[in-house]
Amino acid sequence: MIKDKREVARRGEAAAIPTAWEYAPAPESREIVHFEDRYGLYIGGQFLEPLSNERYTTIDPAREEPLAEIAQAGKADVDRAVKAAREAYAERWSQLRPSERAKYLFRIARILQERSREFAVVESLNGGKPIRESRDVDLPLAAAHFFYYAGWADKLEYAFPNRTPRPIGVAGQIIPWNFPLLMLAWKIAPALAAGNTVVLKPAETTPLSALLFCDVVRQAELPPGVVNIVTGDGRTGAELVSHPDVDKIAFTGSTEVGKAIQRTLAGSGKRLTLELGGKAANIIFDDAPLDQAVEGIINGIYFNQGHVCCAGSRLFVEESIYETVISKLKRRMKTLRVGDPLDKNTDVGAINSKQQLDKIGSLVQSGIDEGAEIYQPPCKLPERGYWFVPTVFTNVAQSYRIAQEEIFGPVLSVLTFRTPDEAIEKANNTPYGLSAGVWTEKGSRILAMAQKLRAGVVWANTYNRFDPASPFGGYKESGFGREGGRHGLEPYVALDGS
Ligand code: NAI
Ligand code: MG
Repeated sequence: MIKDKREVARRGEAAAIPTAWEYAPAPESREIVHFEDRYGLYIGGQFLEPLSNERYTTIDPAREEPLAEIAQAGKADVDRAVKAAREAYAERWSQLRPSERAKYLFRIARILQERSREFAVVESLNGGKPIRESRDVDLPLAAAHFFYYAGWADKLEYAFPNRTPRPIGVAGQIIPWNFPLLMLAWKIAPALAAGNTVVLKPAETTPLSALLFCDVVRQAELPPGVVNIVTGDGRTGAELVSHPDVDKIAFTGSTEVGKAIQRTLAGSGKRLTLELGGKAANIIFDDAPLDQAVEGIINGIYFNQGHVCCAGSRLFVEESIYETVISKLKRRMKTLRVGDPLDKNTDVGAINSKQQLDKIGSLVQSGIDEGAEIYQPPCKLPERGYWFVPTVFTNVAQSYRIAQEEIFGPVLSVLTFRTPDEAIEKANNTPYGLSAGVWTEKGSRILAMAQKLRAGVVWANTYNRFDPASPFGGYKESGFGREGGRHGLEPYVALDGS
């Protein structure tokens, strides 16, 4: 810290060192949310006690306080859910006129909008993300996905001209804890629009918004069994993957589990889409608008505590502007407020789980041990809960673990380059290929870079922008298949000749 102040002082900027302003707390009220003490499994339109008789406690990671008892679904429970989904598929959902399916999806979208404050609080309480983000990003985007796919439901033949799209049946969907409701929307909206029914398993640490979503399903009067929610950990996920009567698996999560799922499904004829990890390059050229680029770097890595598969976790700075960018970045980092996710002033909330906090801690330690230089702004952290100070590493070599592995936390590794070709080569030197960012004022350079970067999404002069109309997905170990846009319908339809 002191060392850094001297550095800034040398440049004559000492008087301008910003620190986080002292704001009065502005907590969002949690009164709007009512949790049951314990939840069952949502199967065939009702909450059922788990046949497994197993439960666990879900907590608020910012306070380490219990929120509710959650069912750990076993094999027989998963079987019940798949049967309910199969029956609803055969008897109701696949028989409905597409315009009728659209009506239900529009209803769900509108109810999500109406209840967005309640959902935002649940998402921040159970997941640790700042209320500003759940309110302004997760909820509007989740509703937008339902609106978007509602629009496609009766226009599928235009999405696939001359191909006669048909639904495929029951989809098993497994989602992670970083965007619980948004990932649910990404999975459920296209599946239902195309006429399939679903069994969805939320992540074990963040089941509450999916369980509250069951109430939205009820309010929208969706036929029973079209949406089924089974809670539990990886064992429940594995049961869903290996269930013989599931036609398709959609998974978002770690590359390790994605590979295991692919092995299980090999030769089964079941369809599979995988959205896995990333180690994205955010590339800053010397002609970039630097203040905007610094905002993009901050948003790229500290948004949602860095629990983002497409996070801009490797920063590539053109050598000639390295000093300027790093000093601007450090100054900006000092203004980040870390703390209570329910406080409307908070920029960086709680780490989702103890397990994830330990993983971040050990990778950061490896960075220090391998010889990178660490910087963390001064920061008062709450006494209880899981927290990690926004961190940046400089003097990083390509071979360090912090430049290779997905940290999935608020930790940035900075590297440099001299030419566009070097930037491309270094950026592509990763087993992943989910996303990338390019900052330059030259349009032709943006296009040239975007063509050569092996990444599913390339943002230009912005970062972490999402839109339901835009497909999202990866190359290489980041997975395959696309979610969002017309492309996102494809995994959920059978086409003539497929
Ligand atoms: P994970 O891949 O174990 O969990 C994701 C989901 O898969 C959860 O719902 C989990 O219950 C389920 N699952 C776990 N094992 C399963 C199995 N054998 N079969 C079927 N489903 C299974 O990820 P985890 O352990 O929570 O996080 C570990 C690392 O994975 C993170 O540090 C991060 O690097 C990466 N990750 C990437 C995500 C992304 O968005 N691409 C999301 C979550 C984690
Ligand atoms: Mg895991």
